[in-house]
Amino acid sequence: MSYDDAIKALSNDALKFVKDDYVIGLGSGRAATILVKSLSKLIKIKNFNVRCIPTSLQIKLIAEKLEIPLIEPDQIKQIDIVFDGADQIDIQKYVIKGGGGALLRENILFSLAKKIVVMADKTKFVKNFTRTVPIEIHPFARTSVTQSIKKIGGTIQLRSLDRGYPFFTENGNIILDCDFGTIKNPKILTQKIKNIPGVLESGIFLKKPDVIYRAKTNGKFDIL
Ligand code: A5P
Repeated sequence: MSYDDAIKALSNDALKFVKDDYVIGLGSGRAATILVKSLSKLIKIKNFNVRCIPTSLQIKLIAEKLEIPLIEPDQIKQIDIVFDGADQIDIQKYVIKGGGGALLRENILFSLAKKIVVMADKTKFVKNFTRTVPIEIHPFARTSVTQSIKKIGGTIQLRSLDRGYPFFTENGNIILDCDFGTIKNPKILTQKIKNIPGVLESGIFLKKPDVIYRAKTNGKFDIL
């Protein structure tokens, strides 16, 4: 039994929140992928007339293959539910996202969602954030944002691909993975990050999930 088994089991449980005619946000990454596979089965079995909005090409390709009905996000004022993974979850239930680079679209869907469901394995749960915070910035502001982040106590790594080429998001921007050490006050830090001109999104999401599923190594899960 692995984390993936647990995520499969919890995905099936999380689908109880889905109703006919729902507009559903699809996060990105491993947990979201497992959820989308279960969702496609549910849609077929129940003959649900749902419409889904993917947060990245990664999840869009999977959803397309599974014939999940998709719509464009710019047609939507509100979504009923969003399912997503997380990179870290702290004791206050804030989440860090953006490990895969989809943070901008993920945070937009979080902001539009009536219900947010996050699924993560137990290694991602911490008292205070300890991992780097992905920050999506406009390439034009690379040097100025770097300087400003240093001033608020961060050390920076420009996200790159294997051979040193910079990673570009689907929005044409770059990501700075920023180390702030242990983060005791995510809210204040996020406000400082978002105040920097050229910052487009911070990987610390301030809208907390309504439901958090925690996958365990024995294939089981619990709900926070
Ligand atoms: C994508 O940019 C991320 O926010 C992912 O949602 C996050 O990295 C969790 O991914 P996994 O479920 O693959 O761990």
